[in-house]
Amino acid sequence: MRRKFIGGNWKMNKTPDQAKEFVISFVEKIKTIEGNSVDIALFPPFLALNVVKEYSGESRLIVGAQNMHYKDSGAFTGEISPVMLNSVGVNWVILGHSERRHIFRESNELINLKVKAALEHNFHVILCVGETEEERLTSKHYDVIKEQLESDLADIDAKGINNIVVAYEPVWAIGTGKTATPEDAEEMHRYIRRLFEGMYNSDIADKVRIIYGGSVKPANAKSLLVKEDIDGALVGGASLNPQSFFEIVNSVID
Ligand code: 13P
Repeated sequence: MRRKFIGGNWKMNKTPDQAKEFVISFVEKIKTIEGNSVDIALFPPFLALNVVKEYSGESRLIVGAQNMHYKDSGAFTGEISPVMLNSVGVNWVILGHSERRHIFRESNELINLKVKAALEHNFHVILCVGETEEERLTSKHYDVIKEQLESDLADIDAKGINNIVVAYEPVWAIGTGKTATPEDAEEMHRYIRRLFEGMYNSDIADKVRIIYGGSVKPANAKSLLVKEDIDGALVGGASLNPQSFFEIVNSVID
C-alpha cells in the first residue's frame, strides 16, 4: 500500500502574515484526520517557511520549499541552498516544476544536479515532470516524460528513489482549469511506473509514489485519486484556501 500524498504548492503567493492566517485555520481542520493514510504537505514561498513551520507546530503538516540551489553556499545571487533550508527545519523540496523549466529555463542537467544535492542532504524530493500541449498533440508525451525522468534521475541509485515522489503535471493542465481525465492521467502514471521497473526494479516501481498535478479542485479530486496508480495530488490554486485544500485532502479519506 502506497500512502497518499497531498501537497499544496503556493507558488509566488502569500506574505508571511497571510501564510500564518492560513496555517492557523488549516491545522485546526486537519486535527480531525486520524491515522497515517495520507501525507499532507505545504510548499510556501521561502519567506513564509519559518512562519508555516512555527504555526504548524506538532501537527502532521509537512513543510517544504518550492526550489533550491545545488550548492551549499557561494556566489549565487538570489539563490537558497539546502543547508539554509535545513537550518529552518525543512527537508522537503519541489524540483523541476514546469514553471522552473519553462519560465526560468531550467534544464534536465540542472535539475539532475539539484536532485543529487537534495538526496545528499537527506531531503525528500517532489520531482515534477510533464509534457506541453504541443508535445501531447503530436504524440510525443511518453518520450518527453521518459527523457525527463531518465535525465533528472541520472546516477540516482535505488536507495535514493526511496526519497523521491514523482509529480506528473501536464503543462497544459496547470492553472488552466483543463484537468487531464482520470483515464489519461492513470495511463501516464502506469507508464511512469513501468519506466521505473526498467530503470530500477519491480519492487521500486511498486513503491514509488506518483502524484498528479494540474487544476486539481475539490470537485474533481476524488475522480483522480481513486485511480490505482494515482497516489495523490500536487495542488496549486486550490491550495491557497484552507477550506478547499482541506476538501481535497478529505477526498482521499472518505
Ligand atoms: P494548479 O492546481 O493551479 O493548476 O497548479 C498545479 C501545479 O502546478 C502544482 O504544482
